[in-house]
Amino acid sequence: MPKLYLAPMQDISTLAFWRVMESRGGPDVYVTEYFRVHVHSTPERKILASITDTDVGDKPIIAQMIGTEPNYLVRTAKQIQSLAPCSGIDMNLGCPSPRVCGRAAGGALLKNPDLIRRIVESLRPVVEGTLTVKTRVGFETEAEFEQLLDLFASLPIDGLAIHGRTVRERYQSEVHTTEIAAAVERLDCPVTANGSIVTVPTALAMLEKTQAAGLMAGRGAIRNPYLFDQIRATLAGETAYIPTLADHLRYVEDLYEEIASTAWQYEEHKHVQRMKKFMNYIASGIGDGVFSQEIRRVQNAEDFWAVCHRHLGTTEPLPAEPTADGKLFCGFRELTCSTAIG
Ligand SMILES: Cc1cc2nc3c(=O)[nH]c(=O)nc-3n(C[C@H](O)[C@H](O)[C@H](O)COP(=O)(O)O)c2cc1C
Repeated sequence: MPKLYLAPMQDISTLAFWRVMESRGGPDVYVTEYFRVHVHSTPERKILASITDTDVGDKPIIAQMIGTEPNYLVRTAKQIQSLAPCSGIDMNLGCPSPRVCGRAAGGALLKNPDLIRRIVESLRPVVEGTLTVKTRVGFETEAEFEQLLDLFASLPIDGLAIHGRTVRERYQSEVHTTEIAAAVERLDCPVTANGSIVTVPTALAMLEKTQAAGLMAGRGAIRNPYLFDQIRATLAGETAYIPTLADHLRYVEDLYEEIASTAWQYEEHKHVQRMKKFMNYIASGIGDGVFSQEIRRVQNAEDFWAVCHRHLGTTEPLPAEPTADGKLFCGFRELTCSTAIG
């Protein structure tokens, strides 16, 4: 059975979201959104709380960091481990945001293999649990991956998660499964495959094409919080539960409540805006796009719930797939095609 990871996602992978995911089975491993590391940084309290205050039983929680300077990363890893004991530290080598890459961090690190080596070798002696890396298949093109693989094969890491896109491709392309499969073949450590796993068929296709030891899902798990349980059930030869739209309404209600209970202060307008981040994904595939459009326009809780009840107040099954609109979800149909792309 592959290990199932909930992807780290800024402003999404919070204590509230994890609680709601966990109540629906959840992944096997949680990864925090990234701790920003720079000269004056201290670990963000909100992210520390996602480790210390969460209730996911014995499930591992990995703390992710983003930054460039080995000394600051070492300092932060020590701080995180002493303030919020976690199962491991993960280094972000994939964020495509221009602000992050402009500071030579995240995905931009893929252009600087020597620095990646210095970072990992500096972290190794201080990281008490697993030391892992989350990467993409290249910065400009996937042709860079062969050299990156030489680098990863020589680093003292305990695992590699690969989002099968280049940094340039951001989130808008097919997933390069050939590179992930090559990493599985080459590396001694477990490889986790990531990118456009949004349904059981896409999870199975990713597994078949890459033979990865782990699967990581982000947006697909926001859209369908039962995704991990469905994957587990299918791989165990059992029938996967198909959630209804009424289940989906309960999911939105739980999320709304949990986010309110973990906020410093509940302010209705801000709260509704915060929910919209999740709703982009949750509404995908439901009601021919009208649900999404209506949610985008609401400004208060009353209207928010009126729209949710109008679109989710039935026991129809949740649509099998999100909408392949290129912005929020794309590349997942290609994943289930028979040929791997290189
Ligand atoms: C809103 C959002 C925030 C993200 N934040 C992070 C992050 O903090 N760290 C990280 O490594 N990746 C981050 N990612 C990338 C995801 O972890 C994942 O690699 C990517 O979404 C592809 O997986 P998916 O198709 O299953 O969503 C983020 C993605 C999204 C959509």
